[in-house]
Amino acid sequence: MQTSVDRDWTISPPRLRPVAVLGTGSGVPPRTLTNADLEGMVDTTDEWIVTRTGIRERRLVDGQATSDLAIAAAEQALLAAGVEADQVELILVATVTPDECCPPVACRVQAALGAHRAAGFDLSAACSGFMNALMTGHRLVGAGAFANCLVIGADTMSALTDYERRDMCVLFGDAAGATYLGEPRDGGEILDQLVGIDGRGAEMIMAPAGGSRRPATLETVARREHFLQMNGKEVFKFAVQKMPEIVETLLGRNGYSIDDLTLLVPHQANLRILEAGAKRLGLPLERVMINVDRYGNTASGSVPLALDEAVRTGRIRRGDLVCLASFGGGLSWAGSLIRW
Ligand code: UT7
Repeated sequence: MQTSVDRDWTISPPRLRPVAVLGTGSGVPPRTLTNADLEGMVDTTDEWIVTRTGIRERRLVDGQATSDLAIAAAEQALLAAGVEADQVELILVATVTPDECCPPVACRVQAALGAHRAAGFDLSAACSGFMNALMTGHRLVGAGAFANCLVIGADTMSALTDYERRDMCVLFGDAAGATYLGEPRDGGEILDQLVGIDGRGAEMIMAPAGGSRRPATLETVARREHFLQMNGKEVFKFAVQKMPEIVETLLGRNGYSIDDLTLLVPHQANLRILEAGAKRLGLPLERVMINVDRYGNTASGSVPLALDEAVRTGRIRRGDLVCLASFGGGLSWAGSLIRW
């Protein structure tokens, strides 16, 4: 599959007000599913999972829904930003696993937070969902349509995972992450973003049934067709090519080199993808945020969860240059360059 960032929709800085990330947060469920647990469920080994993916454990919900994770992440982000819920003007939730197809998760978040003034909606771009929501929030706040925005990525991937398929069930986990965007306070600013899709790869990661094309029936459920299926090898190749392209494009067109980058926060799908991407970029692994070992692939939750951990553990500090990069189903990809 040939894809190129030449076809990205890159909205170069127009007359927008500066917008900064003022707070981050995350929401992870308490239950842990280890590789040892999976050894008892399917024909797999800890050794295979660690060697092929770098994943050692992942978190799964135990009765919670996507909105519960999103609400926890949003509460943390508001606390970190030092703002009250009733100040929030816009709530965006990226997810492929809403609690229900209606209402939007954003409405559940608004009600739970008491963010009564906020508008909001959900959007979906698979593993690049959060990054597309970040771009949307940035542009709407930058254009003055809203004073601030909560941008949340949240997924309960266990709802889409077939725990009888060893090639899928070892990969995914449940989590949410959030950012609060508003007027810069300390000089930090979102500098640039790019997003793209290539629908020729649409069937590389898909749940064949349960949507409008093939609504769920007894038969589709019996065939387990409402769970995700993936052409792992092809997606792997795409990710290893795309991740460095995103970083190089964003750095290059903003006059930076890889040496200027403090931290790369990539989508956490597979440690081997992160290692290969970092190698291509000439970026030491110490400057790549990695938590796939503890959470697996959490789709829309992945990048903001990793970002929040990087902020809380002091790996990102004021003034740092940070690049976010995602890739996944669609096929989709996105990147963001941020002066923290
Ligand atoms: O967030 C969306 C983006 N998604 C990704 O970025 C995922 C990208 N893809 C990947 O990360 C990798 O392709 C996987 C981790 C999904 C798979 O790794 P792989 O090295 O491509 O393995 P494979 O699919 O080629 O499978 C190799 C062998 C197969 O056995 P045979 O046919 O060689 O006998 C599989 O049946 O490994 C077998 N296998 C397993 N063995 C033990 C597959 N899953 C397992 C397992 N335990 N869990």
